[in-house]
Amino acid sequence: MRNLRSIGIAAGLALSVSVWALNAFASEPTVPPVPATFPAEGKIRYVARDSILEFKALPAYHEPDWVTEKYVKTGKLPPVKDRLPKEPLVFKTANMPDGTGVYGDTMRHVIGGRPEGWNYGAGQTQGWGGIDIGLSECLTRTAPLFQVEAKDTEPLPNLAKSWDWSTDGHKLTMHLIEGAKWSDGVPFNADDVMFYWDDEVMDPNVSPLNGATQDTFGVGTTLKKIDDYTVEWTFKDAFPKQHLYAMAYGTFCPGPSHILKPQHPKYSKNTYEQFKNAFPPEYMNMPVMGAWVPVEYRADDIIVMRRNPYYWKVDEKGNQLPYLNELHYKLSTWADRDVQAVAGSGDFSNLEQPENFVASLKRAAEANAPARLAFGPRLIGYNLRLNFSANGWGNPDERGQAIRELNRNEDFRKAVTMALDRKALGSSLVKGPFTAIYPGGLSSGTSFYDRKSTVYYPFDLEAAKAELAKAGLKDTDGDGFVNFPSGTAGGKNVEIVMLVNNDYTTDKSLAEGVVAQMEKLGLRIVLNGLNGTQRDATQYSGRFDWLIRRNEQELTSVVQNTVQLAPVGPKTSWDHRAPESGEVDLMPFEKDLVDIVNKFVSSKDNDQRASLMRDFQKISTEHVYNIGLTEYPGALIVNKRFSNIPQGTPIFMFNWAEDSIIRERVFVAADKQAKYELFPEELPGKPGDKGPM
Ligand code: GLA
Ligand code: CA
Repeated sequence: MRNLRSIGIAAGLALSVSVWALNAFASEPTVPPVPATFPAEGKIRYVARDSILEFKALPAYHEPDWVTEKYVKTGKLPPVKDRLPKEPLVFKTANMPDGTGVYGDTMRHVIGGRPEGWNYGAGQTQGWGGIDIGLSECLTRTAPLFQVEAKDTEPLPNLAKSWDWSTDGHKLTMHLIEGAKWSDGVPFNADDVMFYWDDEVMDPNVSPLNGATQDTFGVGTTLKKIDDYTVEWTFKDAFPKQHLYAMAYGTFCPGPSHILKPQHPKYSKNTYEQFKNAFPPEYMNMPVMGAWVPVEYRADDIIVMRRNPYYWKVDEKGNQLPYLNELHYKLSTWADRDVQAVAGSGDFSNLEQPENFVASLKRAAEANAPARLAFGPRLIGYNLRLNFSANGWGNPDERGQAIRELNRNEDFRKAVTMALDRKALGSSLVKGPFTAIYPGGLSSGTSFYDRKSTVYYPFDLEAAKAELAKAGLKDTDGDGFVNFPSGTAGGKNVEIVMLVNNDYTTDKSLAEGVVAQMEKLGLRIVLNGLNGTQRDATQYSGRFDWLIRRNEQELTSVVQNTVQLAPVGPKTSWDHRAPESGEVDLMPFEKDLVDIVNKFVSSKDNDQRASLMRDFQKISTEHVYNIGLTEYPGALIVNKRFSNIPQGTPIFMFNWAEDSIIRERVFVAADKQAKYELFPEELPGKPGDKGPM
């Protein structure tokens, strides 16, 4: 007997496919069309996980000569060996694309965001574009895993240099790096880790920038200090190895407790607002564990960072990292980042806005082009997300509440998804083989993606209108827009406020496209365009009906940010959270999604995990959980003078490319070095002091 059960399960989808083939109803759900092949140009060189780094003492250590001459010999700094941990993190030469490097030069970033201040742990952005990524060091690290063979994929050690599981799998003991120091020379230890946990993650009045809560590490998870260099996790589940991903960037990167703690309301007279704002952008030399320290800030102009003399990572020859002395973040726009990177006045860009693809490709193809440009897999995607809270998150008024209820109506969601002409949306961004039809759910670029488990409701305006009528919406006053039924919100036109990030051309183009396409359906959409910082605050407080959002790691890697796939906790989902007091009002299929995500997190069996994600994909796309808009590949643009950029680095997978290229290992060969340093031979000064030492 053949496996009848699995045939039965497959039948639903198979049937839809054949109906589609006969072209009976265009609106029958099917699978998304096979996207035009877009070969990633850079081929990744896959390596074993343990070939990247190790922790060990080396016979001797080195630093730039000017550091020894100007700072060590004058007694301003202890010798390099005393500034390093007992066993520094050592990057292995064999894994370095161009081998060990030399000191000098600058990486000039351009960013579109603006810094609110340096208090990441209390929820402040530094302006994105790799700036906070470079300041943060986290218990584990995942960005470089893009090059690790899949069977071997487990987060890399970082501030936690090793860990062991108890025999029952409920306890995880982490050994922290010993003798590492903050950039101001103060020892890093378990108190920093515990301050982050007790007073930021677990304090309901504090919310770290990337939204870590206790649930991020598993419901009921606890953490305690064993000694200065040991912490112990206790989990409800056995061996939830998945949580090691949450201990990477951006959810477990402790800040300097010796600087933060005295400002925290628990230990001072400050309010939470005062704590959050205690380190404005003008505050220089904020202590970091990262490779460079902010020493200069000019509003709407630039942030400059200089090498951290206490950085705790070295190469195999004992050279203290980073190789690059300085980092710039020019405060401009995201579109300008692409322009400057291809022109050579900037050094780095994640080419992610398709509006810039053609011009950038043209310039990069010229023989004298200053920058390399290489496309990766189709991992940049956009979704329309609907606010699913009908029990008060964000305090909606009567109209808002009525929209939330519509959002929870499956006929309504089907109407919206079928009214989207995704082909037109994609080609409004860029012509050519870049964009693909993306119905929503997991990104087609992740290894967990399964096209056959993806339910796609093709574009069909008439069928969409029928679904809208099924949801009870009619245009009662004949102005072309459907109205609420007479008992709801005064029977007025349904008006949906859509939140959009004004910092990106792509977000705005997609939003305008959605407004126009929804108008044809008879739905009136009003845009609420805000800058990135305000947009995020508006979203996290639940003040939106709909929003357009670029996908995050839970959809591109699945293993990173996994808890954001479904509302497993009161604050874990992007679009469905609990009100201040209360629970998340899960829809029935969301309960299934939550169960799947929880099972996935606690499962150790790779086949089971793959099958759970197929189920996730099927349920979430069938019920139109998030509404995909488009999907396309991004390209990494890096100036040609840099060495050690791993080939095939995706601009986004476990993290952004700024982390995946391992900037502390990047260098410029001596004969290619440029004179971009604004503070040559300077080192960071004391916390809060103006400028370098
Ligand atoms: C922004 C940019 C991305 C990337 C990230 C890093 O979101 O759009 O390309 O640089 O910042 O955090
Ligand atoms: Ca009307």
